Amino acid sequence: MYSFPYDAVLFDLDGTLTCSEQGIVQSMLHALKTVGAQVPAGVDLREIIGPPLMTSLTGILRLPVPQAREAMAHYSEFFNREGMYLYTVYPHIRSILSMLRAGGVYVAMATSKPVRPAMAILNHFGLTHYFNRIITEEDNEKLVNKPELIRRALPDHYERAAMVGDRFYDIEGALQNGIDAIGAGYGFGTEEELLTAGATHVVPDTESLRAFLCPGAPVPRGFFLTVEGLDGSGKTTQVDRLEKSLRDYGYSVLRTREPGGCEISEEIRHTILTTDHMEMCPACEALLYAASRAQHVHQVIRPAVERGMLVLCDRFVDSSVAYQGGGRELGAETVCQINDPAVAGMWPDATVYLEIDHQRALRRRHSASSLDRIEVESAAFHSRVQAAYEKLIHDDPRRFLVVDGEQDMDTVAADVLDAVLGRLEPELES
Ligand code: TYD
Repeated sequence: MYSFPYDAVLFDLDGTLTCSEQGIVQSMLHALKTVGAQVPAGVDLREIIGPPLMTSLTGILRLPVPQAREAMAHYSEFFNREGMYLYTVYPHIRSILSMLRAGGVYVAMATSKPVRPAMAILNHFGLTHYFNRIITEEDNEKLVNKPELIRRALPDHYERAAMVGDRFYDIEGALQNGIDAIGAGYGFGTEEELLTAGATHVVPDTESLRAFLCPGAPVPRGFFLTVEGLDGSGKTTQVDRLEKSLRDYGYSVLRTREPGGCEISEEIRHTILTTDHMEMCPACEALLYAASRAQHVHQVIRPAVERGMLVLCDRFVDSSVAYQGGGRELGAETVCQINDPAVAGMWPDATVYLEIDHQRALRRRHSASSLDRIEVESAAFHSRVQAAYEKLIHDDPRRFLVVDGEQDMDTVAADVLDAVLGRLEPELES
């Protein structure tokens, strides 16, 4: 059995749960430019991350109050429009929050950010539902100090509580309330700043934070996401973009591909795809794809999902059903039988399908520089592949997230992300 060292944990937002550097710095640069002010010499704009905005504008950036007020309005306008979307969630934060909640620990947030941007960020990243209580500044003109924010965030009864934050304000505020102060050394304050302020403990990264707050607790199972589509559907570009977006949302992503993904399977990939082996028969091809999959599932996919990672796999067993079952006409049933020991129960939790007509995909492939042994197949082959995919989707509509792959690249990327987040975070606001 394991137990949690704290029955109440409070978190700061910027620099603790989310990396706000780009969002805040870009919004401030915009605000200063609009009011005709400049960053004073010797000031690093990252210093403004953490303190209340008005304090930064008048103190660190030395603006007179009327100009600071004007700058604040421009800051907020830009922040809501663009700055917020430049935020990222630190890795492991989602699993820390969900592990604490699953263990019955009270989880709250105490931030000096005004309520609207704070809630907008939490909602944007689908984090709101993890918190028992969220305490923010209501109005930047009547500032509440950090110790008071922390006091309000604490539950009525607790045995042992801790505040996690990355600046000395958080540490001092926690100590004034008589609770432990955990320094987030990966944020915007230095370790020295946190220790000088009296931090009980400083963690260098979020993995250490998880070990500190949830020692020995099982990491929740991760997620197995696959992406499928015809050759020429733009799949690789979309997997690149999806990987980046999911990392920005704080998911611990393991990106991999089939055939391949580990040494043995990459060797098999070469054997299957080289145009030196045009004599390869369909059964050999199907068995080689399955063999490469068996090792990949065993060595990479299953262990990663069990470690709580989001595995993002470019193609999986659906490709075999479509290409070998449909394209090579081995039939879906035979291909499923061959793959049974390879998949070994590791079915994808969700599968993105980039829908594009095979003729359009063919035209796109023609612009590629070199084609592999599968891509050089006839139009009739790819038309059978498309039909086999359509049958798979028809038979398992819950698992498939079908996205129109014929739109422009940015629209496809946005649709893919929306569909995937809808599955990962059903509570997320779109
Ligand atoms: P892929 O890596 O997506 O191609 P590319 O490198 O051009 O982006 O896939 C390689 C080829 O292998 C592709 O034509 C589809 C085919 N394939 C199968 O026929 N069966 C399978 O089980 C898998 C995984 C791929």
